[in-house]
Amino acid sequence: MQSTGASQKVAALRGELPLIEGYLSVRDMSVQLCAPLTVEDHSLQPMPDASPAKWHLAHTTWFFETFLLSEYLQDYRPFHPAFRNLFNSYYNAVGDRPLRALRHALSRPGLDEVHAYRDYVDEAMVRLLSLELEPAVLDLVALGINHEQQHQELIVTDVKNGLWTNPLRPPYRARPRHDSSENVAPSLEWSSFDGGVYSIGFEGDDFAFDNERPRHQVYLEAFRLASRLTTNGEYLEFMCDRGYESANLWLSDAWDCVRNNQWSAPLYWEQRDGEWWNYTTEGMQPVRMNEPVCHVSYYEADAFARWAGVRLATESEWEIAARPCAVTGNLLETGALHPRPAEPSDALAQVFGDVWEWTASPYTPYPGFKTAAGAIGEYNGKFMCNQMVLRGGSCATPQSHLRATYRNFFPPHARWQFMGIRLANGN
Ligand SMILES: [Fe+2]
Repeated sequence: MQSTGASQKVAALRGELPLIEGYLSVRDMSVQLCAPLTVEDHSLQPMPDASPAKWHLAHTTWFFETFLLSEYLQDYRPFHPAFRNLFNSYYNAVGDRPLRALRHALSRPGLDEVHAYRDYVDEAMVRLLSLELEPAVLDLVALGINHEQQHQELIVTDVKNGLWTNPLRPPYRARPRHDSSENVAPSLEWSSFDGGVYSIGFEGDDFAFDNERPRHQVYLEAFRLASRLTTNGEYLEFMCDRGYESANLWLSDAWDCVRNNQWSAPLYWEQRDGEWWNYTTEGMQPVRMNEPVCHVSYYEADAFARWAGVRLATESEWEIAARPCAVTGNLLETGALHPRPAEPSDALAQVFGDVWEWTASPYTPYPGFKTAAGAIGEYNGKFMCNQMVLRGGSCATPQSHLRATYRNFFPPHARWQFMGIRLANGN
């Protein structure tokens, strides 16, 4: 292990090159997101799916060290030889790693050492990024930056889940809340789209994940999309209509999940004196009926749509509808870290941001999809089974991370991400 005054060196180099500046600003965001946490908060792992914040800080650093510095920076010496395995997430080609469920048990290295690791790697990355790099290396840099942004969203959602497990329901941070109590969600309208042959998927030289490629043709029947997200008020109607007790609304796996976990409301909802409250990054708050429903699983989204007499959109339908929309909305940069009511709009509202929208599409490879050679080929492709696609980003997604072709994916029972519902219908 080596110590370094990398912070100062990196700061001195900040802004020298747009790529370096972009790299450093994304790295800095991860640290900022952890700033409200205590040292103890950094080790919370409330369930195997959620990782401690300290692990996220180290693993994102590991990614740059393993796939860039160790391969492409001459004479680079790893910060600590054991970290190659310690902070590996799931890359079999890299080697062994600790059990995912035991990431909370890694009390060493301590938080200070993880920050020193970050500084050390950042200083080396600035040296690497100052060199003339091959396009393939620059692609890996872009992947590393986007990987870090994915983990930034996970820092928020994993910390939220960890703090919620504490009966004190401590807030992630205290700040004046955006007061949406006065806003009324606009009435739900339907936007119509023609049937026909469309091209979906990413094409071009800009960064996109491998799972967004190749662009290919799909045939769609005419369809309609809800003009905004489903609200808490609408979801409460489903609950009051005994939605969680009506087996006929649920897929078989979903019904088992509801029964086994005794689900009766979205994650983080609880009743106090007859009123519904939900846990937010600012602690317990009354459920606001005009805000988008959040922290529901695919199973719940599907059952709600069936109850409403409609369905969820396929990912192809969603992408065709989203393509003309600017990537703006209630994203990480607003600082809200909570979905907001829709604003009145002639166009589709809340396409990007607020909550990831469950689609009816299983996460499978596009026609012609190929994984990259080597360890990096394990990034997305090996997860293309037993998961559903979500689109559009959330209030915890960085704006520069999103685009209309972006495919997120989670198992159908997952609820701890900012996940919600937009209804669709055939014509
Ligand atoms: Fe990762």
